[in-house]
Amino acid sequence: MTSELTILGISGSLRTDSYNSALLRAARDLAPAGVALDIYAGLRDIPPYDMDLDTPDRRPAAVQDLRDRINAADGLLIITPEFNYSIPGVLKNALDWASTDWTETEGLPLLRKPVAIAGAAPTNFGSVRAQLALRQVFVWTDSDVVTKPEVIAFRVHERLGQDGRLIDEGTAVLLRNLLDALTAKAAAKAATKVGAAR
Ligand SMILES: Cc1cc2nc3c(=O)[nH]c(=O)nc-3n(C[C@H](O)[C@H](O)[C@H](O)COP(=O)(O)O)c2cc1C
Repeated sequence: MTSELTILGISGSLRTDSYNSALLRAARDLAPAGVALDIYAGLRDIPPYDMDLDTPDRRPAAVQDLRDRINAADGLLIITPEFNYSIPGVLKNALDWASTDWTETEGLPLLRKPVAIAGAAPTNFGSVRAQLALRQVFVWTDSDVVTKPEVIAFRVHERLGQDGRLIDEGTAVLLRNLLDALTAKAAAKAATKVGAAR
């Protein structure tokens, strides 16, 4: 079956055995029918934000690719760890690059973009503060963020098997509900685009 909607999934961790990336893979497998969840693998290649380079003709290729992929996606799913009570720098940096349109010719990739947030940590509260900080970022970008359910996979090592697969049904249900809420927003936005094109 061809997918009607595309969700771009971004993990906030670069670590090979990342719990957050494992949850993102689980989310891909749990995506509703008609939804393709593509996992973004380019975070490591995004250079530090530089406003001097943030124009269509000067932007680094990896950054332009990220912006293009966000523009093409019907929604974003971000699953992130918490670093020092906040958003990992690599993730914040990528979002900064995706948040601008200084020439006012391209459009803002994150504007009204449906976004769902989740996070995991082996600690008891990890990801809560990172998720809150991420929600603040999406206020400035005026993105359309799913508010419920909140998916806070604390003590995540107890929810994954040795092979990194999700074995906790409660987490799976939450992820499914989050994806359903994101899909509803993405479908509504896609419908307005189709309507506008008519
Ligand atoms: C630089 C750094 C800062 C961290 N800060 C926090 C933190 O503020 N709160 C927390 O619960 N865990 C913190 N941790 C632990 C992470 O939750 C843990 O390493 C987690 O597994 C990282 O996510 P990942 O498995 O997806 O790579 C930190 C880890 C690192 C490397």
